[in-house]
Amino acid sequence: MSDSEPELEARLVAEESFDPPASFTEQANVADPALYDGFDAEWPECWEQAADLLDWEASYDTVLDDSQPPFFEWFTGGSLNASTNCLDRHLDDRGEEAAIEWVGEPTDEANETYTYAELHREVNEFAAALRGLGVEEDDVVTMYMPMLPELPVAMLACARIGAPHSVVFAGFSADALATRMEAADSEYLVTCDGYYRRGDALDHFEKAADGLDAVAHDVTTVVVDRLGADDHGHDLSDDHHDYDTLVADHAGATVDPVARDAEDMLFLMYTSGTTGQPKGVKHTTGGYLSWVSWTSQAVLDVKPEDTYFCSADIGWITGHSYIVYGPLALGTTTMLYEGAPDYPARDRLWEIVERYDATQLYTAPTAIRAFMKWGTEHVDAHDLSSLRLLGTVGEPINPRAWNWYYEHVGDGECPVVDTWWQTETGGMMVTTLPGVSRMKPGAAGRPLPGVDAQVVGPNGESVEPGQAGYLTVQKPWPGMLRTLYQNDERYVEEYWAEFSDTDSDDPDDWVYFPEDGAKVDEDGYITVLGRVDDVINVSGHRLGTMEIESAIVGCEGVAEAAVVGGDHEVKGEAVYAYVITEDGQPESDAFREEIVGAVEDAIGPIARPESVQFTPELPKTRSGKIMRRLLEDVANDDDLGDTSTLRNPEIVQEL
Ligand code: WTA
Repeated sequence: MSDSEPELEARLVAEESFDPPASFTEQANVADPALYDGFDAEWPECWEQAADLLDWEASYDTVLDDSQPPFFEWFTGGSLNASTNCLDRHLDDRGEEAAIEWVGEPTDEANETYTYAELHREVNEFAAALRGLGVEEDDVVTMYMPMLPELPVAMLACARIGAPHSVVFAGFSADALATRMEAADSEYLVTCDGYYRRGDALDHFEKAADGLDAVAHDVTTVVVDRLGADDHGHDLSDDHHDYDTLVADHAGATVDPVARDAEDMLFLMYTSGTTGQPKGVKHTTGGYLSWVSWTSQAVLDVKPEDTYFCSADIGWITGHSYIVYGPLALGTTTMLYEGAPDYPARDRLWEIVERYDATQLYTAPTAIRAFMKWGTEHVDAHDLSSLRLLGTVGEPINPRAWNWYYEHVGDGECPVVDTWWQTETGGMMVTTLPGVSRMKPGAAGRPLPGVDAQVVGPNGESVEPGQAGYLTVQKPWPGMLRTLYQNDERYVEEYWAEFSDTDSDDPDDWVYFPEDGAKVDEDGYITVLGRVDDVINVSGHRLGTMEIESAIVGCEGVAEAAVVGGDHEVKGEAVYAYVITEDGQPESDAFREEIVGAVEDAIGPIARPESVQFTPELPKTRSGKIMRRLLEDVANDDDLGDTSTLRNPEIVQEL
């Protein structure tokens, strides 16, 4: 564990707990508490239940191949296609039902409905177009797009032809795009001209162009016309195409779905870690799709006739798993909203829920805290009685926000699922089963049936209930990442080395470490305390402090920098930067602005420091490591505790 790990504070769990509403349990997809014991007894064969939710081209012969830990494989010998599972198989029953309801941000613009038949048609056409551009099986196609329907179309088109996608969040900077395209050797980019955010038309084209300038290899580009301003005076690349033209040129085309081995890569997703270099998390076709389908059904209670609304962005894992793949695999209607929740007014989300009769809402604690702050009148102004279930993800939810969500949005009639998981886990891992489990605000819940998550001490030993420790997963699961793209060594190092006997061939000696702190109560309910590595969680977005620091030290005039997460009322955490300037560099507001700008350029506005403090020194241990924990205490105005191990204790007082 790193030197910088924060002291794990005992988080508050509310005294009051709630039974699932009887009206919910009556109709729940999963209502039998015996599932927990049943899955334990049948492990790993229990996961055939997840695989059975899918249509397989060839059925698998082995549920779990654990012969080479930690390179676990699931459903080996089987083959399937993800786009067939999300589209073709629903055509008979659901062809004329909505697959996607897309809502753009401008209110004077028509919303768009894609039926399953329409989505199937456009995916086929775009798949044919991608083939025409030269995309072959296993080529990585990058998408740099906001919440437009063309994004899931492009993802499913890739899945159809067996080309893994790598979606880069549209809010990331040009530099971030370039780093990810280079790391994945990706020669194809699907992007757009722009999008709407809080009433402004944002230019995305030039950002993509800047990114491509920094990519050394040639790239074929496809641009979706969102703003209707298609004259940029230049093309994005030598091999530049317009999305609509491509699709029109392939009108009516059908593409036979490529049968992918269960273990073939479905997509890559880059995420932040301890070092500056983002990690390319690899997810597979069989295990991942089974996992997100099973959890969508069991935890989000998704049924085909639902209108399911997840307000995440598809550029993050939540959108991949629980806007696109899980819901569409189950044949339901999934909502896509382009814009901000407070545009044109602070009731926009509730207006959408009411208008579409949304049945589930899955969002982040940061959003709930913002809604709370904006006041209940915005919620109260709308009829939200269509909602049956509420969910949260991305960061710990404080009991006050939980209660507000339960009471004001759910009217005390919707179970709230607080779902702990990560990019790497593919889907949910620790949460309540909404038709079965008692809810304790502040605690995510027990591990899902068949998931062996445990809280342990520094040597891997169990901890007493109530004591803080480290969250671990002791057995593999189908949705797990398989490796980091082209970096098996780092995969072992980052996720397994801490608590495993890495010389062992025995799968039981391998323990997955998600880098979160946690505690568990007498009932086995896990409360996640937050990251114990150098990753901070700003509004549910995962950012590496090293990435931010390297952007800051890249500024001329900066000698050294340290970045930590400080508490923030709405964002959960905010970025606090401590900067040592070089001799002669004025510590001015203008220089502060420059530093903030450098972070925005390197990563994106989400990483914008809340505060930049100049300091002559940083608190360091005698071995020269920066004590981030102390900086966090400074940021939070907390008691500083023991500073005696510092080489320079006086600096903390000064700060
Ligand atoms: C945090 C997002 C507490 C955690 C799906 C994890 C949570 C990181 C919760 C992963 C939750 C996510 N309670 N903490 N319900 N859900 N986290 O990869 O620190 O963007 O390690 O995946 O978010 O973030 P990621």
